[in-house]
Amino acid sequence: MKKFVFLITVVVLAYSCNQRTADSEIDRFINELMSQMSIQEKIGQLNLITPGADIPTGATVSTDVEEKIKNGQVGGIFGISGPPERIRQTQEMAVNDSRLGIPLLFGLDVIHGYKTVFPIPIGLSCSWDMELIEETARIAAREATADGINWNYSPMIDVSREPRWGRVAEGGGEDPYLNSEIARAMVRGYQQDDLASSYTMMSTAKHFALYGAPEGGRDYNTVDMSRTRMFNIYMPPFKAAIEEGVGCIMTAFNDVEGVPATGNRWLLTNILREKWDFDGFVISDYTSVNEMVDHGIGDLQAVSALALKAGLDMDMVGEAFLTTLEKSLEEGIIIEAYIDNACRNVLRAKYRLGLFDDPYRYIDETLPGKEILTAENLHAARDAAARSFVLLKNKGNILPLDKNQSIALIGPLAYEKSNMMGTWVVSADRQMSVPVLEGMKNVAGEEINIRYAKGANIHDDPDFAEKVNVFGPRIVIDERSPEVMLREAVGIASNADVIVAVIGEASEMSGESSSRSDISLPESQKKLVRALAGTGKPLVLVMMSGRPLTMEEEYELADAILFVWHPGIEAGNAIADVLYGYYNPSGKLTMSFPRNAGQIPVYYNHRSTGRPQEGDEFVKFRSNYLDVPNSPLFPFGYGLSYTTFDYTNLKLNKDVMKPDEEITLFVTVTNTGDLDGEEVVQLYIHDVIRTITQPVKKLKGFEKVFLKAGESKEISFTITVNDLAFYDNDVNFKAEPGEFIVFAGTSSDDVASVSFTLQEKWPDQ
Ligand code: NOJ
Repeated sequence: MKKFVFLITVVVLAYSCNQRTADSEIDRFINELMSQMSIQEKIGQLNLITPGADIPTGATVSTDVEEKIKNGQVGGIFGISGPPERIRQTQEMAVNDSRLGIPLLFGLDVIHGYKTVFPIPIGLSCSWDMELIEETARIAAREATADGINWNYSPMIDVSREPRWGRVAEGGGEDPYLNSEIARAMVRGYQQDDLASSYTMMSTAKHFALYGAPEGGRDYNTVDMSRTRMFNIYMPPFKAAIEEGVGCIMTAFNDVEGVPATGNRWLLTNILREKWDFDGFVISDYTSVNEMVDHGIGDLQAVSALALKAGLDMDMVGEAFLTTLEKSLEEGIIIEAYIDNACRNVLRAKYRLGLFDDPYRYIDETLPGKEILTAENLHAARDAAARSFVLLKNKGNILPLDKNQSIALIGPLAYEKSNMMGTWVVSADRQMSVPVLEGMKNVAGEEINIRYAKGANIHDDPDFAEKVNVFGPRIVIDERSPEVMLREAVGIASNADVIVAVIGEASEMSGESSSRSDISLPESQKKLVRALAGTGKPLVLVMMSGRPLTMEEEYELADAILFVWHPGIEAGNAIADVLYGYYNPSGKLTMSFPRNAGQIPVYYNHRSTGRPQEGDEFVKFRSNYLDVPNSPLFPFGYGLSYTTFDYTNLKLNKDVMKPDEEITLFVTVTNTGDLDGEEVVQLYIHDVIRTITQPVKKLKGFEKVFLKAGESKEISFTITVNDLAFYDNDVNFKAEPGEFIVFAGTSSDDVASVSFTLQEKWPDQ
């Protein structure tokens, strides 16, 4: 045993020495390079530009790109994607025509796949399957790097309790623990354990910080919250991404405690560098340095100096650094050490990517044909989509469908391609998406009895459609009148065995700058659902969206609801796989679905008030509403299966735990139905009496388990003192002794519980 410990110590020491040698080699190289750089060239490394020709993701684009590259005024480019020849030409400009030949970074928003598009991130999060999520990121990296990209602006790990905010589509929902696990999986997937491999790309965790909590759900809006909320709810995924070795962090547009995140030294230096030891580089969001002028912090020169001093390393698009830092240096507003520090951070990233070794490492003209849109990748996209769907209702087991049933396939999203991939698709061809009608025939056979009618527009209002159609037609208003479309649909529906209505949001009704104050279905589609329900035929709703929707009426009217988010390139095939029972749905919601928008924010891990309400019955002088229960329509963690699961034998291995010990929870899960299926077993903890109020439940573990019909498995979770700790008002992370309740179950509101005591005092007290 002693020998073994000794061996481990030697290995660890050897590893850290190697690490130090590697770091000092990098430092030596960078010091040498920087000794040759002029101040203008150093500032040039801090400048990220976008030519904007292909992929506009913001309001402004850069000019004189070629000239700037040759002058050494550019550190990286984003928004150009393949073919690799284009990236090679641009890299050649930097390497051959600029004085020092420093290679460029090539960045892009590869948010949920590159050309093989996976479900939108909130959909993927509902799989609760970290291996799957990592695999989607790994495939995205292989495809994007095949086209020459070496730096990705993903994952977005902004926790959010705000379904009005369109960007919930890009994240992993409302829970800090789940988002942290997703952050780790995605960083691993993009970077693997070798950033310099030509198949991996540098990952960017964004948006630091608190972007997911804009007031009123309006994008880019002010954020204000306590430090306990920040550190317990919004910060953990960033800490996790850093622990996983993420190469880059992007700042948020919003202010934090009154100082815009991009110029916030407390965030970018005290927390990121000093508390969390982050050693990658920090990029602003799109023109977020310039936007500090509108925040009212100062003129462009002042805000640029503020951002640099705060710890920002690279300026995205706005050229605020490029145009003002030299002047600030001359005037003594900044010192050169700040510029050096930022420049060093950017150069270190280039070194880690292997670009100084070979500036063309990511450019191989033979790779796109081998790596992009392969049969395996498409298969993975189909599988990932099926695993992300959440079955919200299945009255009388109307699903899965039988191939002999005649189907009326109705709805504005039932036979089209432009919305299937969802928001943030900048490099894929939307026309490659599989529409639902096609998928149904692929899976059930050309001979199935299926008739299609559009039934309604996604939205009837041309003004609304225009706002959504900025990147191309997503809402196409039919030439026929709504009445004519509805009549046709009802006619077809009345003659079918089952109605499958594919309805919901267009892809750009969520995503950036797509907040909604009313998150219900548009009126055109509400009318369609009412009319279809009026036929008396069994009604299955397949609902697509980039956010939770309010849908009480639809929930009442439908027999079954499969919530599929925006499923990606294989949408139709994956939907048909699940509707016909080739895959038994296993997704669980990662955001609560409010009953109406007035309930927002509604989330499972809320703290208790002094007047809590038991259940949903109104009680005077308790914390509740006159017109709506407190509970959401569907809680966090909720999702049905075609089979059923039972939880029994919940027990702990002891009643008392010391702070240096672990405690283990056991629970037996049985598949009590007739079909094989997967269940997400969820573990929550409640900390009963504390010096600051605690959430009624916090997710602290989960396991996705496959069970054959009739099969039982004992699942165990190990709980450590870290799982019991929280940040207090002084931002100390600590666990307090006393009683803890542990819950295990199928959803945040459907759990059984046991309790134990944490003994002794936490060493800090
Ligand atoms: C603005 C978005 O907030 C950010 O997420 C994205 O990466 C950049 N634009 C670049 O497109």
